[in-house]
Amino acid sequence: MNKILDGIKLSEELYLELQTRINKAKLKPTLAVIQVGNLSESNLYIEHKKNKAKTMGINFKLISLPKTIQTSVLVKEISKLNNDIKVDGILIQLPLPKQIDLPQIFSIIDPNKDVDGFHPYNRGQLDFSPTETTLVPPTAKGVITLMDKYDISVKGKHVVVLGAGIISGKPIVKLLLNMGATISICTKETLNIKYFIKKADIVISAVGYRDFFHGKDIKKGAVIINIGITKTYNKVYGDPHFDSVLKKASFITPTPGGTGPMTVYHLLENTVICAEKKLKNGTKKHS
Ligand code: GUN
Repeated sequence: MNKILDGIKLSEELYLELQTRINKAKLKPTLAVIQVGNLSESNLYIEHKKNKAKTMGINFKLISLPKTIQTSVLVKEISKLNNDIKVDGILIQLPLPKQIDLPQIFSIIDPNKDVDGFHPYNRGQLDFSPTETTLVPPTAKGVITLMDKYDISVKGKHVVVLGAGIISGKPIVKLLLNMGATISICTKETLNIKYFIKKADIVISAVGYRDFFHGKDIKKGAVIINIGITKTYNKVYGDPHFDSVLKKASFITPTPGGTGPMTVYHLLENTVICAEKKLKNGTKKHS
């Protein structure tokens, strides 16, 4: 039986549907990305997003700012993009330098252009079951889509989420709760994380620590979804020790090629959702 949750294959199928949506409505979406500083990891992520956007006919606009800027400068840049009728989606690449006030930044993005789903309005929407037009954080949505397309039900299951960050862990928990899962959230403060991993029907790992757990640490037949990545000079690794976990799991995401491509897909889908809403509603707020 094929145990691999193939995010490349699935995202390619979904891109075909998204392309049809873009073509049918004659959309010309624009995604603006703000990068503060010049982290090599961020450069790589941004390059991926840019390349995929181009193949989909989505305009990509990169605004690069020096890493020493204060919050007020970033606020002005975001306001410019909020007011630019040509811009459909705004993404602020994380991590941001320490001097930047994150809650302030995310509260001033136009919620209708918030492709990362970080604005408090969009965050609040996650307390209810999201609709097709809710701007759900792309990584979280990617995990849900991947499980859904492989017919993995979360209802009544014990899902253990490793990591409670704003990009993945926190929004995933909200989505899973809406879907009837029972959830344990572990952070670096959790005592005896291995106890929780062993109890999980589904593990969703966003730790960023290579070989964080092995086959012996999981329940037989568990589903293992990896988000965390560790880069060496020529290779990328996920949190699970892949070979030993593969033997015992019922499904596992590869790294790379699992949740990463799904994140980029949902980011571009969110950009299309923003463009569709603009077409439908003009500039009306919170539609
Ligand atoms: N940095 C790494 N992943 C992400 C993401 O999903 N969104 C943003 N804004 N920054 C990131």
